[in-house]
Amino acid sequence: MNKQSTLTKKVNTMQIKIIRCKDYDEMSKKAAQKIISSIEKKPNIVLGLATGSTPIGLYKELIQDHKLHGTSYKHVYTVNLDEYVGLAPEDKNSYFSFMKKQLFDKIDINLTHTNIPNGIAPDLEEESKRYNQLIESLGGVDLQILGIGQNGHIGFNEPGTPFTSTTHTIQLTESTRTANASHFNSLDEVPTYAITMGVQNIMSSKEILLLASGSSKAKALQQLINGEVTEELPASVLRLHDNVTIIADEEALKYI
Ligand code: GLP
Repeated sequence: MNKQSTLTKKVNTMQIKIIRCKDYDEMSKKAAQKIISSIEKKPNIVLGLATGSTPIGLYKELIQDHKLHGTSYKHVYTVNLDEYVGLAPEDKNSYFSFMKKQLFDKIDINLTHTNIPNGIAPDLEEESKRYNQLIESLGGVDLQILGIGQNGHIGFNEPGTPFTSTTHTIQLTESTRTANASHFNSLDEVPTYAITMGVQNIMSSKEILLLASGSSKAKALQQLINGEVTEELPASVLRLHDNVTIIADEEALKYI
């Protein structure tokens, strides 16, 4: 990463809303309420979805609500943030498999309305362009769900990723590979590259909901909320967006 692309400066930052929850369950319920009410207001909403351990409870809540109250996803569109390079959709560790297992197979969403970057596309640059165009053709993301990496990454935008980036291929840091290794048989199996929506795609979303749980995220959240806006902490860019809500539990907010 050359020096010029590293942005660290004082900027006018927006007020981020923070919803403090007692634990993971409350965080998941609050996030689900927000998504359900957004679908009620706009049944053909474009949802930006995230993977990782953090949103699993939220997806469980959505499934339960779908069963109990019949919230329908028939007209909903989804775009996922990222996918591992080299994993076919049917690979059990792909984010496509994750989404099917954790959400899509258990609600009435039309699978043709769901979108995830193709990690085995023969030309990843073309795939990145296709994904950018796809997001645009849907009219942009209405509500983007985000987790946060321990190093402040969002999607797979690792520290140092330009704020101007759109969908691209990125080499994963060792800390991210190690953090994600629990989903694989061993660290060796964790892919070294991923294809991810860029920071600019994320910032183009009309509204953003960032979820965080547990003390391993506390430092990143502290830097996001009180530190400087810098490409070294990709999530800090959210301070430049005017409609961001953080839903996090006590442990993740212990320094706030
Ligand atoms: C992964 C995903 C991110 C996710 C983050 C946190 O690498 N690409 O989208 O937000 O790491 O994951 P977890 O929720 O498991 O802590």
